[in-house]
Amino acid sequence: MRITLITGASSGLGREYTRLAAEQGDFDQIWVIARRDDRLRELASSLEADIRPVALDLTKPDNIEALKALLLQAAELDDDFCIGLLVNAAGFGKFGTCDDMTQAEVDAMIDLNCRALVDLTQLALPYMAKGSRIIQIASSAAFQPLQGLAVYAASKSFVLSYTRALRRELPHRGIYVTAVCPTWVKTEFIKVARDTKNGTTVQHPWPQISAERVARWSMFVNRCNYPVATCGVIAFLMRVFCKVIPAPVIMWIWEGLRRI
Ligand SMILES: NC(=O)c1ccc[n+]([C@@H]2O[C@H](COP(=O)([O-])OP(=O)(O)OC[C@H]3O[C@@H](n4cnc5c(N)ncnc54)[C@H](OP(=O)(O)O)[C@@H]3O)[C@@H](O)[C@H]2O)c1
Repeated sequence: MRITLITGASSGLGREYTRLAAEQGDFDQIWVIARRDDRLRELASSLEADIRPVALDLTKPDNIEALKALLLQAAELDDDFCIGLLVNAAGFGKFGTCDDMTQAEVDAMIDLNCRALVDLTQLALPYMAKGSRIIQIASSAAFQPLQGLAVYAASKSFVLSYTRALRRELPHRGIYVTAVCPTWVKTEFIKVARDTKNGTTVQHPWPQISAERVARWSMFVNRCNYPVATCGVIAFLMRVFCKVIPAPVIMWIWEGLRRI
């Protein structure tokens, strides 16, 4: 059995990757992971594919162990068990400065965006074969430090750096690895980001592109085995400018943008 594993599938980008995977029909089963079980079941019943909802809070190390056990069990039952695609889309950010953030908020951001993403990758790799693919959702926030989104942007820099290095560790295995770095996307992300002590630290996250566009383009980029998918002109320009313009200048521009 060849499966795909998609985290953050109850909403936004993860849900869109699930729809796309179901549409493309390359896999025998799609495992979808998030906390909201009802949403996962709803998604499963709306698609014509074999979808297995796995409701887990990925910030909890016990749940990572539970997933490890499920994978082991599946592999024991089927000699041909293989993970064809891993999409690490679970993640969140909170708007606010260090004075606004609680310790629980910053810890959960790091736990989910960084630790869980690496853990899922490590869990999946032993079950991957030549031609398997990994899509890690970073963000254009990865390209520079962003005050008012400091921990989130740092967590996404981690994802981008980790993913680029991982690619170089895997060529002998024929596994394609891509980091996805879009700007704002129309999902529940902004609602979650504002739900904090000072959610207007970033006034108007704009412009926003569709989750479908990000999923389709990044799937294509990943199939081409390209390291980074920016998914839009603005994110592409940010990527280029952040390489040539010093970070203090970028942060000064951002200071203006986040207040507009
Ligand atoms: N939207 C943007 O503007 C944007 C831009 C660049 C990058 N991104 C990145 O894209 C990824 C997907 O975000 P999105 O825009 O699709 O936002 P979203 O609609 O809020 O989706 C986030 C997903 O993560 C899951 N999740 C949150 N906490 C979790 C936990 N503790 N354990 C397991 N799953 C958890 C959520 O499901 P449950 O709540 O059901 O657990 C949900 O399915 C994130 O990594 C985000 O940083 C987003």
